[in-house]
Formats: sequence, structure tokens, C-alpha cells
Amino acid sequence: MRESLENPHPAEGGGHFGGGIHVVGLAPGADLAGFRAAARRLIAADVAPENIVWQTEAPSLFGADSAAADGPPLRLPRAVTELIPMVVPHRDPERYGLLYALLWRVVHGERALMEVASDPLVHRLHRMRKAIARDLHKMHAFLRFRRVPGEGRERFAAWFEPDHHILEAAAPFFVDRFRALTWSILTPEGSAHWDGTLRYGPPGRREDVPDGDGFEAGWRDYYESTFNPARLNLDAMRAEMPRKYWRNMPETAAIPALVRAASARAQAMIEKEPTMPAKRDPVRAVAKMSQDEPETLDALNAIIARSEPLVPGATQAVLGEGPVGARIAFVGEQPGDQEDRQGRPFVGPAGQLLSRALEEAGIDRREAYLTNAVKHFKFTLRGKRRIHEKPTAGEVSHYRWWLDRELGFVAPKLVVALGATAVLALTGKQIPITRARGPADFGRPFEGFITVHPSYLLRLPDEAAKAAAYQAFVEDLRRVQALAA
Ligand code: URA
Repeated sequence: MRESLENPHPAEGGGHFGGGIHVVGLAPGADLAGFRAAARRLIAADVAPENIVWQTEAPSLFGADSAAADGPPLRLPRAVTELIPMVVPHRDPERYGLLYALLWRVVHGERALMEVASDPLVHRLHRMRKAIARDLHKMHAFLRFRRVPGEGRERFAAWFEPDHHILEAAAPFFVDRFRALTWSILTPEGSAHWDGTLRYGPPGRREDVPDGDGFEAGWRDYYESTFNPARLNLDAMRAEMPRKYWRNMPETAAIPALVRAASARAQAMIEKEPTMPAKRDPVRAVAKMSQDEPETLDALNAIIARSEPLVPGATQAVLGEGPVGARIAFVGEQPGDQEDRQGRPFVGPAGQLLSRALEEAGIDRREAYLTNAVKHFKFTLRGKRRIHEKPTAGEVSHYRWWLDRELGFVAPKLVVALGATAVLALTGKQIPITRARGPADFGRPFEGFITVHPSYLLRLPDEAAKAAAYQAFVEDLRRVQALAA
């Protein structure tokens, strides 16, 4: 980032940030760190938006790099801090000026400005944020890796042309999804490389990414098997999957043939399955589930693993874990971030606390059965962090049928409900834990026990309260152990 002061009226003088026009040069692309630093400094120096020229893409015409001290951090409403990284990647050269105008107004008293959707500045920034969200979605959905031929470690590469400067914002998604592979994403503006460490580099060329391979056939087969001819809507398809991405996507080769065959296939589907639900609706979904009567825990798990999350976003369904016939089964709420990534229940911070408490209470975790009321992680994004969101009562009831079957197959002597969501799943009622803690009757062929969820212990603010609550939790688990003996 470069800053310089062009004083159009030398007589007005002033040092850095004195009077006149301030020229801020930011790095090409999305220079979030540069913008933040400059904005802090300019706000601290009380420089109004109209006195700043934000230079992007080209080197500054006005010279020297600034070594000015950083300004103090700004205290901003969350809606503003979340918006900034979602607008900085926009291609609009005015993006930094608009964001600075927003910051200026917020720090000058308009704290709730982001809530005024009709304000022209807010409206425009919202539109820019949406454009970035769309661009990220397209990159996440339409980027395709190809195997790079050569000796040594298997490597993959993908070519993509985003509309905005989103490479750095998009790359962590691919790290999450393809953590075990070594890959590069090349774009006309820069590249990202993953081999256990994420690095960014210079622009790439389409020719550097090989054409089709066997890996591609997999994508194409997958697309063909998931293509639903009854849902064919060419306009929506073109809008969602713009042609410019088609050439990077092996499965698009299958589209013309699938489109030609669509009406005949749709007719066949209608004749074969006249009651197919028109849209996803929890009541129908439950009715549909009860028709697939699995005969073993593995068969049930296969159904769960194939199912779509009720709220989109989760990486995978997290299945229960532990031996069939376990004496004790624990039911939690839903997988968290770590569980969603690893595909196993209770492996994140709350799970680790549970393991410790089980050990203290003399319960061998490997001999118990651990599962959740809801099988998919539900979250909201805060920047890059996925923040757990509590499932609604409707979502819990959607998953109840699975939980009932699951516990039926495991047939434990005693089931422990960890927290209120598990109680709701097992009883169908909202019951405060403080009132119901201890032995419980879930009206099933197993004994019941209600205690707190381990994440409640993690959230307690004060260390003394935490220690006392932890001891009470271990005490509960000792009772569970005695009851199940
Ligand atoms: N919390 C839960 O309820 N379940 C998990 O698997 C992890 C955290």
C-alpha cells in the first residue's frame, strides 16, 4: 500500500494527512489488509472521504510508500466488519471509496446505518456483497480439478475465471474439501497452491491445466446420475451455470444429450413414481423416510449418509459411533464444525471434554454409543468461521425417525440425553434441563437419563462456575454408569 499527499494548494501546507488530497495506493486485486490499515489511519487523522483518492490496479502516480504508523483499531458494528471482506474483492474501482464513506458515516454517529437498506450507499454495498457471494458460489460449484501427468506425487490443477478478485476468499473452501490432495488453482489474476500449506502465486494460463482425464469421467458419471430430467429448466440452468464455465466442466459434455433425452425421461419418471414430492417439505420427507424401512444399522446409516441436509451447507452426515449392543448410548444435539469435517461425532472441543468426563466417571468411550439428534451441521458464516446454529424444533422432529430406528438397532440399556435438543428429540417436548436433570422416562424400552450438554460447560464465563459444573457433570456420569451396570 502506498500513500502520499498531493496538496493542490501548497500554501495550505500540512504534513501527512494535513490538508489537500490524500492518495492511497492499494495492491491490485483484493487488498483487505491495505484497506484496513489505510482506513484506520485516515479515520484517526479525520480525513473526510471526499479528500481521498483510492488508487487500485495501477502503481501510484504520486510516489513514495508510506511508513506512517497504523491508526488505532476502529470499533465497528458487526454488520460493517462482516461486510468489508465481502466487498473488497469486488471489481468495481470505487469499492474502497464506498467502504470508506460507510466507515466515515458509522464512526460519525450513524451506528445503525447498515440497517437502513434504503440508503443508496448501503443499497449499493449490499448489491456488491451479493455479487461476491454469487461469484464465490459459482467458483465453489463449477471449478474442476484435473490430474496433472507426471512422476512423483499425484497433483491436480484447475483453471477458473472468476468475475471478481475472489481467489483468496474462495481458496479455503477447496482446502476444506480437498485437504488430502495436492492442487493448484490458476486464474488470470493469480494462483493458489495447496500441498499441506496454502500459498498464493502469480497468474496462470489455461494451457497449464491439462484437458480431460479419468478423474473427469467420475464427475461426468456423477452428474449424469444426479441429473433430474423433471427439473430441467434451461433458462435457470444457463443463469446458474454460465456458459463461460462450461468448458472447464467435464460433465457439461453430457448436457446436450441429457437435455435431448429429458422430456422422455421425465415422462418415464412420472409414470413410474406418480407421488414424487414436488418440493422438499419436512412432513413429506418424514413420510418418505418411513417407507424406506432399513433392516440393519448399516442400512439405516446408508440412508442417512445419502440424504441431503435439511439446511444446506453441511459437508456430510455424521453417523452415530460405537458398538451395537452398547450398554449406554449418548445423544447430543448435532455435529459441530470439527465433526462435520471429520465425519465423526464428538471429536471437537465439546467432544474432548465429554471424553475426559467419561474417563473420570469410569465409562469407556469405546464401549459406549455416541450419536446426535440431528445428523448434519447447521451453521452461519461469520467471515471464514462457521458458527454453530441451534436446530429448530421442526428440524429436530425431521431427524427423530432416524434416531428412533438407530436406538432400536443399538438397543442400549440406558440412553443419556445431553442437553435440551436431545431431550426434545427423545420426548418430543421442550423441557428445561434444570427441572429434568437425572433419571428420566422416555417412554421407550430403555432407561433414560438427562444431563447438560458438554458445550454448556465450555460456554460458562467464570472458571469457578466451570469447575463446579464440570464436577456435577462427572457426578451425573457416575450415576449413569451405576444405573447401566
Ligand atoms: N455437539 C454435539 O451435540 N454433538 C457433536 O457431535 C459435537 C458437538
